Order: sequence, then C-alpha cells, then structure tokens
Amino acid sequence: MEKQSLLGGRKKTSKRWTFLGIFVPLLLIGTLLLTYWPDLNKVSLDDECVQEPSYVPTGERAAELNQRYEEYLTSSGFADSAAKRFSGAIKIPTVSYDEMTAQVPQDPVSHKPFLEFHKYLEKSYPLVHQRLEKHVVNEYSLVFYWKGSDISLKPTMLMAHIDVVPVDPATANEWKYPPFSGEIADGKVWGRGTADTKMSLIGILESVEALLEVNYEPKRSVIVAFGHDEEITGFNGAQNIVKFIENNLAIPHHGVEMILDEGMTLAIVEDPKIGVMKQREITFANIGIAEKGYVNVNISVSMDIGGHASIAPQHTGIGILSQVIVALENNPFAPDLEESNPILKSLNCQAAHTNKFSKREKYILKHWKAFKHVLLKVFSANPALNAAVTTSQAIDVIQGGVKVNALPQFSFEVANHRIALHETVDTTLDHIYSLVRPIAKKNNLDFLPTPDTPRTKGTKGAISVNHLGFNPSPISPTDASPYKVLSSVIRRVFPDSIVAPSLMTANTDTRWVWNLSESIFRFVPDISTGDEGIHTVNENNSIENLVGIARFYHELIRAFDE
Ligand SMILES: *[C@@H]1O[C@H](CO)[C@@H](O)[C@H](O)[C@H]1NC(C)=O
Ligand SMILES: *[C@@H]1O[C@H](CO)[C@@H](O)[C@H](O)[C@H]1NC(C)=O
Ligand SMILES: *[C@@H]1O[C@H](CO)[C@@H](O)[C@H](O)[C@H]1NC(C)=O
Ligand SMILES: [Zn+2]
Repeated sequence: MEKQSLLGGRKKTSKRWTFLGIFVPLLLIGTLLLTYWPDLNKVSLDDECVQEPSYVPTGERAAELNQRYEEYLTSSGFADSAAKRFSGAIKIPTVSYDEMTAQVPQDPVSHKPFLEFHKYLEKSYPLVHQRLEKHVVNEYSLVFYWKGSDISLKPTMLMAHIDVVPVDPATANEWKYPPFSGEIADGKVWGRGTADTKMSLIGILESVEALLEVNYEPKRSVIVAFGHDEEITGFNGAQNIVKFIENNLAIPHHGVEMILDEGMTLAIVEDPKIGVMKQREITFANIGIAEKGYVNVNISVSMDIGGHASIAPQHTGIGILSQVIVALENNPFAPDLEESNPILKSLNCQAAHTNKFSKREKYILKHWKAFKHVLLKVFSANPALNAAVTTSQAIDVIQGGVKVNALPQFSFEVANHRIALHETVDTTLDHIYSLVRPIAKKNNLDFLPTPDTPRTKGTKGAISVNHLGFNPSPISPTDASPYKVLSSVIRRVFPDSIVAPSLMTANTDTRWVWNLSESIFRFVPDISTGDEGIHTVNENNSIENLVGIARFYHELIRAFDE
C-alpha cells in the first residue's frame, strides 16, 4: 500500500511516465519469470550429491583380508576384547583443565595420567608398539609412524586426541556410572571420553593392531597422531605434532594425502513418508570439509581515577562497559553465503536423498544465487543453519567492581565468536572496533585496539581490546581422490549411508594441520542421535559403534593403498 501524501491530493503524472511506469516493471517481471519460472517437475538435485560406489577391495591378499574383516572384526570375541581395552582407556583420567592452556613448561603433576595412558596403550597394543616408529612429542602427545613400502606415495594421517574435558563436580552424582569407571553395561561403555574422542583413538589402534596381526604391510605410509590438549586449543599438542612431522618425518608443504580427525558423525535422519513411499531412516555420513574460525575478544574499561561513590559521575566504568555490550548485542554480525560454503552441498545432499524438502524449496536451493536473501532469511530462523552463515557472538564472561561504595576502576567482558567462512579474525575485529570506538570517544576515553597503542593526554581512561583467535579453515576439495576414497570406504562399512560434505561449527586439532594437506576431513563413523553425551553427564558409546569405527579405519588403510 502506498502512503498518502500528507498534503492530500496526488500529483498528476504525464501519460508517458504512466506508460513507462507500468510497462518497464512488467517487462522486468516477465523476464524474471521466464528466467526463473519454476518448472517444478524438472527440478532434480540428484546430480548435486552423487554417491561414490562402495569400496571393493582388490589389492594383494584381498581375499584373505576380506575374510578377516568379515569374520574377525564382526565377531563377538573381537567386540568383547575391544570393549575391555576401550574401557581401560576411559579409566585413566587424562583431563585437560583450563589452567593448563598453553602452559610452558607443562605441569608434571596434572599430566601424570597422560604418562599412565601411554603405558596402557603400550600394554594393550603390543604390535603397534613393536612395528611402528613411536615418537613422544612434547612429553604427552603421541605419533606412530607406519612406514609404507612405496615412499613415493604421500602418507595418510589419522588423528584423535588423548585428553578429555573435566567432569563438573556439581554433576558427579548425576552420572549413572562414575565418569572414570569405564563401566561396561547395556552393550555400552560409560564414562568421560567415550564419545569425545577415545572411541576413535582406540578404533584407530584396534584397526592397525588387527592389520599387523596378519602381517599387513602398507604401501602408503600411515601417520597416527594423538594430541594431548585438544580441548584447550592444541597449543602444546597438535601444534608440536605438526612441527615434528614437518621436521623429523621431513614431510613437505601439503605432503600428506589426507588427514582425518574427529568432527562430524553418522546421523540418522527420519525421512517423512510421501505417497506410497514408507517412512524410513537414512544414515547420513556428514564429513566436515571446513570449520569456522574462532576468536575470544576481551574488552576492558579502565578509569584513571576511582573515588568514592558519593561523588559519582554519570557513567561508571561498569556503565560504559554496559554500553559496549549493548552495542555489540544490538549489532550482530551479518550473514552471508558464498558458493564454496559446504552448507549448500550439505543441503543439496539432503534435498537429493530425502523427502524433507518441497519442490519449491529444492528449486530455491538450486537457484540459491537468485534467492540468496530468501535463503538467508530462512536460515536465520534455524540456529544450526544460521551458525553456518553467520559469525556468532556470545558474551560469556564479565567482571568488575569490588566494593559497593567505591567507583569501579577496572572492568572487562570476554566474548566468544565463531567466525563464518566469509569473514576473518580481522574483519570480525573491525566490526567490533567500529562499535567500540565511538563509545570510547563519547565518554572521553582512549580506544586501545592493541597493547602498544599509546594513551593520549586529557582523557579519563581507556577501553582496551585484546584477542586470541584463528581464521576459518580452508575448504577441502570434494572432487579430488581423497574425498572419493573416504566416501567409498564409508559406503562399504555402512552400506546404505549417504555421504554428505558439511561445515563444522565447532573446532578441532585440525586448526594446526592446514599446511600438511589439502584434504583435511573431520569425521568419525560414530552413530549419534545428537551430541547430548559430549562434555556433559552420562557420556557413553555402544560397543557396536566401537566395532564399526575399527572396521572403518581398517578398510580406510587398505583403500588408500589401492
Ligand atoms: C581480560 O583482559 C584484562 C586486561 O588485559 C585482564 O586483566 C583479564 O584477566 C582478561 N580476562 C580474561 C578472562 O582473559
Ligand atoms: C603455514 O605455513 C605458513 C608459512 O610457513 C605459516 O606462516 C603459517 O603459520 C602456517 N599455518 C599453520 C596453520 O600452521
Ligand atoms: C548415551 O549417549 C547417547 C549419545 O550421546 C545419549 O543420547 C544418551 O542420552 C546417553 N545415555 C544416557 C542414559 O544418558
Ligand atoms: Zn574432541
């Protein structure tokens, strides 16, 4: 509806303008309709999510190794003994506490369980320790190097982390079984680390040990790397593992064929019934091909003069800090979608292989460039989708003030941001600076975006910013061989699964390995119904999952040799 002119009556327009006013928009609409008119019946996205055929082993000794895979790795004997070894790994509390972050030198007392864990692995996987080169990196991380017979082939690298998050003492009695009991009950193993991520660490070792038992000799070298501080940034662990691999194993830039670390999982999707088609469950293997960046931004307000509350200024330091927080929350980061964003591939796979999307939705997805704003609007209503296209902002810490009758001289807040793929640490900071700078000015404070920015004379104090973060990861290719081989192995071990590229919105140790490989994937074939157990109470994993994970790594090592 048009707004009435305040002066009443409408302006007369000439006939020529009326004609153009009607004809031009009609022409435009007509062109748009012809270009984008949804021929809905022709919309097919199948070509967007082509599935690799399942891996069929053909290499040397294929028959013998297949038999081992079919018989030994599916036997209850294997499941029982693997579960016991898994349980033993859970019993050792390799906890990363926040105060251990980037600790140099590392505290030997709080790291004692890590040495116990090394001993436990040595006892449980004797062949791995006899036949692979074992390297302890920065005291508590582990690298096993399984040299291949053809050193002209780039090695593959399998990762997991040794550490787990702490158990909140306040929740200790909510655990069905004590968190470090490694209880085996109801077909599951219970305790901290069973889902994040000792199941993949044990799964990797089980698979290698099983291959060694039949004297398997890889053509392509395999590097197994277990960091010890992933939960607190990987500063001491993964960072040094990468240096070790570059320097001691002499691996050049992008010299690793594929790196596989924890990350996304197998997800069971309920597919609604349509017409005569029955309702069914589809297993999606979501492979993280990229991950968002991360930055913690600490903004502090310091007032040069404190004083007694009885002669108070209009805004105290806490008041000014509040202005900052209000400005941040009122100006969230803008979403954007670029062609390379894995969320598009991920949605295309769902559209192509489930009945979840209407024809109209599929159409919009296929022509997303023309409908980008529509799509972003839809995304904004769904937290998971919104996270894939937006830099997030969570003000998680605030502190300031000591006494009710004293003006606060110092206060700060810390916000955590997960950086979307179209942004960087710098663009994230620029956005924040543009909001904070005018607040500093208005309150006659200096704005100090870096520690070495000098103070000026005549101001009443300063707003300082410091940050710690890293950029979003590169995006691993899905049209190159490593992704295809990985996909084909997933489809062998989990026959009806649909492999789909995805975006990780959480972070992993892979943040340190970008220089080692172009093909970095974040995936463990753990069947999850969500991530409820991770980092909270009653973390558990099924023995069936553990066996599936071991089978998966077993076949992966073989497939990368062919
Ligand atoms: C935030 O920065 C201030 C000033 O540098 C510092 O005193 C404070 O400890 C920092 N807080 C956190 C949680 O990092
Ligand atoms: C990759 O290598 C470059 C050049 O040596 C270095 O500046 C950068 O920090 C490295 N990246 C990572 C993630 O280690
Ligand atoms: C076991 O773990 C699963 C997956 O994380 C979780 O959904 C389930 O609630 C856990 N079981 C219990 C009894 O908490
Ligand atoms: Zn983890």
